[in-house]
Amino acid sequence: MIRVTELEKRFGQHRVLQGVSLHVDAGEVVCLIGPSGSGKSTVLRCINGLESYEGGEVRAFGERVDRGSKNIHQLRSRMGMVFQRFNLFPHRTVLQNVMEGPVYVLRENPAQARNEAMALLAKVGLAEKAQAYPAQLSGGQQQRVAIARALAMKPEAMLFDEPTSALDPELVGDVLAVMRALAGEGMTMIVVTHEMGFAREVADRVCFLHSGSIVEEGPAAQVLGAPRQPRTQDFLRRVLHPSAAPAEVLQ
Ligand SMILES: Nc1ncnc2c1ncn2[C@@H]1O[C@H](COP(=O)(O)OP(=O)(O)O)[C@@H](O)[C@H]1O
Ligand SMILES: [Mg+2]
Repeated sequence: MIRVTELEKRFGQHRVLQGVSLHVDAGEVVCLIGPSGSGKSTVLRCINGLESYEGGEVRAFGERVDRGSKNIHQLRSRMGMVFQRFNLFPHRTVLQNVMEGPVYVLRENPAQARNEAMALLAKVGLAEKAQAYPAQLSGGQQQRVAIARALAMKPEAMLFDEPTSALDPELVGDVLAVMRALAGEGMTMIVVTHEMGFAREVADRVCFLHSGSIVEEGPAAQVLGAPRQPRTQDFLRRVLHPSAAPAEVLQ
């Protein structure tokens, strides 16, 4: 469904992605892990056509993803994206936030869009917040609205970029529960995350990115439970046991 081949991306002289290859089949969940600055967000942005690239290719649903191409908006609308910072419209209610895309982009009839939006809000556990404004919600609730809003566009795949890393720890679980349910329904997902428990439980495959290259990839139990590459081992040691981190940090 999504295939990234030998992707090369530079920002000026900086080679941010150095031949990244990655594929996601329909219904698969792939988690992308790696240190800050390794290129995880850039991979997702290239997949979603938000970023141009210099080499290699990104294909989604059989078509080439090219930021400059005429069909990029149509292609992008087939992928839902959820970012670290929930970017809801502050002056619209939760319900309006979720209905907006279907009504104005998909040209759905408002009554139907409203019913679908309410069903999605129920699914993320927030039906009773339909008339609230984003500022009246916790970060975790806002992030669940952001997921409902992305789902309202009926995407064929969902891309998540560290959806829980801006949240207070006690709010993380509810967001992960929504993502877990979505994976259980067979949604195709690429998830950038530092939540190793989630990755281990939900991911079909885990890719470890380091300095713009995928240095290890495999089933979640193998990459997270018995990593083969020293850089993966070091990263996991630091993520799982932050207080026991060695003084010398890679990079
Ligand atoms: N718009 C940009 N301009 C210049 N450099 C960028 C830009 N976006 C990202 N970078 C650089 O690219 C590298 C990878 O960034 P990013 O994909 O955000 O990493 P990650 O998501 O893994 O933390 C970093 O060194 C970052 O500073
Ligand atoms: Mg990032």
